Amino acid sequence: MVENEVLKVPRHVGIIMDGNRRWAKKRLLPGAAGHSAGMKRMISLAERAMQAGVRYLTVYALSTENLLRPQDELDKMFALIKKNFDPNVEKLVARGAAVKVVGNLSLLPDDVREVIEQSLKKSPDKADFTFIMALGYGARNEIVQAANLAVKNRQEVDEESFSSLLYTRGIPDPDFIIRTGGELRLSNFLLWQAAYAELYFTDVLFPDFTNAKFDKALANFSARARRFGKV
Ligand code: IPE
Ligand code: MG
Repeated sequence: MVENEVLKVPRHVGIIMDGNRRWAKKRLLPGAAGHSAGMKRMISLAERAMQAGVRYLTVYALSTENLLRPQDELDKMFALIKKNFDPNVEKLVARGAAVKVVGNLSLLPDDVREVIEQSLKKSPDKADFTFIMALGYGARNEIVQAANLAVKNRQEVDEESFSSLLYTRGIPDPDFIIRTGGELRLSNFLLWQAAYAELYFTDVLFPDFTNAKFDKALANFSARARRFGKV
């Protein structure tokens, strides 16, 4: 008899943080205010996840598709990253976290990329809790770059060795993926890694996704029995 695996707390949680601009619009605020509120929420959720015993939290912060948004919105998001990335890394590292980025940072402007790369040097390589920001990230881009690496190395891959060519190398697959903002899709987030992830969708706009709402999502996960295709 195969036992169902019931994990109380997911080891790795992914969050598709959607709804920042709608949140701002409802308040008659500029879109950038929504991104700013979303960034604060994101850091608070990272701290909450750490307390709850989650080991890895990956947030979808900036997708390859987001990079096609109008330049004025992109400029505001980049300004937000330049101002807040380093203080946020310092804050999380001071609490004992490691911080990583997954994605193609060369898609970002040089000055933004430099801030990120310098700041990441302050993070330990490993910690009990790892906060991972997907920036300039798209799962298809990630899979294609991994395939090209394998070809370049003349390497025949299997599932395990292919996984180690992805940006997420060394990070276990997500057990639980949350999407805020009401859309029911993955939008190119961790497509390979999410093969067996439990999915959770909520209409709550990301800046309104409080720690209490996150706790509720975690409780929902713990009530699910995962069979991984078995009986
Ligand atoms: C998510 O919110 C923002 C990013 C992670 C870039 P949106 O900017 O997509 O906000 P909505 O969905 O338009 O409300
Ligand atoms: Mg959106």
